[in-house]
Amino acid sequence: MTENLRPIGLLAELTHRCPLGCPYCSNPLDLVRANQELDTKTWERVFNEAADLGAMHVHLSGGEPLARKDIAELTNAAHLAGLYTNLITSAIGLNAQRLTELRSAGLDHVQISIQGIDPSRADAVAHYKGGSRAKRDAAKLVVEDGLALTINAVIHRGNIADVPAIIDLAEELGAGRLEVAHVQYHGWAIPNRATLMPSREDFLAAAKIVEDARKRLEGTLVIDHVIPDYYAERPKACMGGWGRQVIVVTPDGRALPCHAASTLPGFTFDNVRDRSLSDIWEKSDAFTKFRGTAWMPKPCQGCDRAEIDWGGCRCQAFAITGEAAATDPACALSPDHAKLRDLATADAASTNTAYRFRRIGG
Ligand code: SF4
Ligand code: FES
Repeated sequence: MTENLRPIGLLAELTHRCPLGCPYCSNPLDLVRANQELDTKTWERVFNEAADLGAMHVHLSGGEPLARKDIAELTNAAHLAGLYTNLITSAIGLNAQRLTELRSAGLDHVQISIQGIDPSRADAVAHYKGGSRAKRDAAKLVVEDGLALTINAVIHRGNIADVPAIIDLAEELGAGRLEVAHVQYHGWAIPNRATLMPSREDFLAAAKIVEDARKRLEGTLVIDHVIPDYYAERPKACMGGWGRQVIVVTPDGRALPCHAASTLPGFTFDNVRDRSLSDIWEKSDAFTKFRGTAWMPKPCQGCDRAEIDWGGCRCQAFAITGEAAATDPACALSPDHAKLRDLATADAASTNTAYRFRRIGG
């Protein structure tokens, strides 16, 4: 490693268990079972190792992190390690008592996902009856409790018309931050792409609404806007660049540079049960393989954005071109860009309305 890079955050996928079945879930198709999960003590060590390495925050995520019986203990361990703690939750099961326990354990922030505005349509996407109501109730409790709240809304063809109402809802709930995040095509979103992909016109209309709202609500509600790569001209710096900002630890302890890295062939991902986080971060093949710019092909080599987007997303490059080291096809300079656009156009025109819901066992 030539640079003295330090991770900013740890994404702790505490479990893949989840009551919901969202068809765009970023977890892999091959979900980890409960009996393979890391125990409390190992997570505690991982939180301390992450903090020692320089991480400032931990996202307690999943699956649904509340499915872990030891979630308060885990939150407290992360808090005592000195990490800012963010619970990323569906909010199913987040009642007043649970919230009090978590807050006492040192929880700083809660992120609640919503699936849309109309309760029956939102529940249909989540594959969970009553979820929409439960999320709104939990969001109110979080704000009443004085905890910071982010609402995360994943946008796709089935709810893109809800974007204005989603912004209104986030305001009404008292959230400090709203993530309007178009589906990123990893994990379960890939087999559901033809059902999820919005048209370019609908995306552009929604993007304008979001950008207008960002200005209008400045100082009241922070809006993060994650646009779909399929309609982009240049890629995002996925995860802030490979092995640069974030460490993902899966429920069974594999340390990954991003949540979809296990889809890439030819890698061995070290396990935190066997190797320290600092050793994995600094020396493992997986974390160093695409770090920096030396690995880049043309046209990334020498491009003035090489140290801005770090070549985009390796997992998307592999999913579309079969080559993990290819230029991200989201980039208009990539020779595979037209392929990505054609896929998006064909998927957006699809009349498919059936979702393949996320569940353990595929
Ligand atoms: Fe980014 Fe590579 Fe495209 Fe340049 S050519 S903008 S570095 S993906
Ligand atoms: Fe793996 Fe983008 S999701 S690099």
